[in-house]
Amino acid sequence: MAKKIKGRRDFLKTSSLATIPFLLPSGLSASAELAGYAKKEESINFVTDGAMTSPLEYARELQAIAEKYPDTPDTYAKGGAVSRLEAEFAKLTGKQKAIFMPSGTMANNLALRVLSEGKSKIFVQETSHLYRDEADAAQTVHSKRLVPLAPGKGEFSLADLKESIAYHQKGEVFQSGIGAVSIENPVRRADGQVFSLEEIKKISGYCRENGIKLHLDGARLHLASAYSGVPIREYASYFDTVYISLYKYLGSKGGAILAGDAAVIDQMPHLIKIYGGNIYQNWPYAAVALDKIGNIESLLQKSRAKGDQLMALMNASGNMKISPIPSGSNIFNLQITAPVNYDKFTGYLKEKEQIQLRMPDSQGVIKFFVNETILKRSNEFIMGALKKAIGSALA
Ligand SMILES: Cc1ncc(COP(=O)(O)O)c(C=O)c1O
Repeated sequence: MAKKIKGRRDFLKTSSLATIPFLLPSGLSASAELAGYAKKEESINFVTDGAMTSPLEYARELQAIAEKYPDTPDTYAKGGAVSRLEAEFAKLTGKQKAIFMPSGTMANNLALRVLSEGKSKIFVQETSHLYRDEADAAQTVHSKRLVPLAPGKGEFSLADLKESIAYHQKGEVFQSGIGAVSIENPVRRADGQVFSLEEIKKISGYCRENGIKLHLDGARLHLASAYSGVPIREYASYFDTVYISLYKYLGSKGGAILAGDAAVIDQMPHLIKIYGGNIYQNWPYAAVALDKIGNIESLLQKSRAKGDQLMALMNASGNMKISPIPSGSNIFNLQITAPVNYDKFTGYLKEKEQIQLRMPDSQGVIKFFVNETILKRSNEFIMGALKKAIGSALA
């Protein structure tokens, strides 16, 4: 089911795009600013997809890992935590091979470059990160023409894809061939909407019948999986390549994994090098994600269950209304039905209770993100804090 996206200003203010560091003028990333770095052990954030550790916490995690596993370092992404992480992801996705990439942007672009071979057209969601947030890298660096589908919607259908392919094939005299199709799931610009499995199956079947390669931008694929119940491996089985981020909820400070057939993945080291992504040591990114990958599914399940219980309590409280986004994942729409001053409300929560909430959009809707930090304190405690904050901020 496709959902309309709202205006850009609201989007920037309230969506997870605000977690993207490069859009911010200041040196401080939005996610760091929003999450304020978990200063206290028990601090909870309802503003990002994962826990945001402070530099000190991250350094401590790295120290513990380095002490526990003396063979952690890699050399130019060979060996140590990087190779172990790649093996884990190959297993997880059911693909022949997986490779560490310095960024998701590079994973998306290099995957599509290789999958599309010499053909230039790549069909994508109009709302995708690839189309809207990668600085036209596909067009300018890789000579690919991104063809946007289903403008303003989180999801496109097989019918949308077929129509666009037919339009280009019939309407253009000089054919450059259909290169590949890319699907983002869940969809960041659609507040974490999950792409329907039924449509993925249809698109994948059509692509396979027609020799068209299919890429999955699964930056947050574990979130889609936790909320849809579809295993990562099943999602991956419908695609030729799959990218998963190491920093959205896997605890790292950057990095990505790309998985696929050996014939595709084996071309990556050379491409990573020539595009300047061959970093001398990558273990500080890989090791933290490796440490978490075994637990992430149960952590997200627990967070989801606790979030569901908390939201039932919030809806029963009489002064909050929280509802799921259609076909959504970990992001919900929260409205405070009591007349509050939002600066005071969120300020109280942050300062007195170490709980962070986003500000509302122009419709008075707060995007409420459920992540693992919800596990730090009881729902009764969180409810008490929300009620006190409302009481302290009544307008
Ligand atoms: C859906 C999606 N794809 C790709 C990326 C790019 O990841 P990176 O920041 O590692 O380049 C992001 C980052 O926010 C994303 O949300």
